[in-house]
Amino acid sequence: MTEKRSRPPKRLLLLGCGGFVGSHLVDRLLAETEDFVVGFDPCTTKVATHLQNPRFQMHAKYLQQGWDDGTLEKAIEEADVVINLAAICNPSDYNTRPRVVIQSNFTDVLPVLDRCAELGKWLIQYSTSEVYGRTLSSYVKGDQYKDPDLYVQEEEDTPMLMGPIQNQRWSYATAKQLLERYTYALHDEFDMPYTIIRPYNFFGPRMDYIPGRDGEGVPRVLACFMAALLDGKPLELVDGGEALRVITSIHDAIDSVMLMLDKPEGAKNQIFNIGNSGNELHIYELAEKMRKVYAEVSGDDRFLEHPINTVTAEAFYGPGYEDCDRRVPDISRAWRQLGWAPSRSIDEILRETVSYYYNLYGPGGSATNRYETSY
Ligand code: UGA
Repeated sequence: MTEKRSRPPKRLLLLGCGGFVGSHLVDRLLAETEDFVVGFDPCTTKVATHLQNPRFQMHAKYLQQGWDDGTLEKAIEEADVVINLAAICNPSDYNTRPRVVIQSNFTDVLPVLDRCAELGKWLIQYSTSEVYGRTLSSYVKGDQYKDPDLYVQEEEDTPMLMGPIQNQRWSYATAKQLLERYTYALHDEFDMPYTIIRPYNFFGPRMDYIPGRDGEGVPRVLACFMAALLDGKPLELVDGGEALRVITSIHDAIDSVMLMLDKPEGAKNQIFNIGNSGNELHIYELAEKMRKVYAEVSGDDRFLEHPINTVTAEAFYGPGYEDCDRRVPDISRAWRQLGWAPSRSIDEILRETVSYYYNLYGPGGSATNRYETSY
């Protein structure tokens, strides 16, 4: 039996409750609080186990649909807190359908923001570490990350550097940045309480989709590597996998928002980096670790030598892709304001996640048909 948190129950509105982060948040809220959770998301699969819970009300629709039929406006009016997770957030979309990316991350959210401001609702807005763009170090020839001031990302200090318009990779980051600026402007003008969360590569079960199993397209790196291992195909390193990322457990990530809800006085009117810089690695190192963990989980040592190829960014994503070179978060604010610090190691995260997908989609896995999942 999970111990309940001691704070008074709230009525929460979760936009994008059926995605990776949203579904983990619903799990935890229903288990650890007496909150009533209202969710909007066109997809119910990842929250299917909660659909009969009397403290969960699901609207299986896009934000735009909810806005058109009045259900979303009513839900905002009734909510104590609005948490927005709705987004298209796969880099393969950013340069191939940038108009839709900008709409889903900015335009579609505007009426929600305006209504929150009119009603003085506390808005918790999920943004992205991508708003920082590339590091200053990446523009300084020969720097090679000698000076942390040129690459460590601090919420109120670090500039936001992005490539030219033709590099449409930045459609997502700029839409999120504008969303942050609009949120801040509403706070400034109308005193709307807000919290902005900038996630750093959250990893865990239920992330994205596995092509050929529960979706089609090019997901983020974890799901790409998982699919390749399950299908016996080479892992593909974009531009040699030189880019650096910090990998953060979804459980650590959910801890941070649970603390925000527990401690509104520490969370309101703040921007938080949420990431685990103890888990920094190059993407080529991630590929090597994943095949090692897959070999352990499957008990098949042949995966220790599973092929890893390199591919150009243009061949993998098409024209207009430009990578974030490195993302190292300063998380001192989350510690100071909330008492939050991540604790799960990269090995722990990969073990949990690879096991989850292997048990679902590996040989003898519980999902036997395409598009069948056991969530
Ligand atoms: C992601 C997304 O933009 C956002 O969803 C999000 O805000 C953020 O980062 C996050 O997850 O916190 P990115 O980390 O670039 O951006 O996305 P991934 O697809 O996970 O790619 C990570 C790195 O792996 C990139 O350098 C990419 O080029 C590389 N990659 C990806 C490969 O080498 N091989 C692949 O098969 C896929």
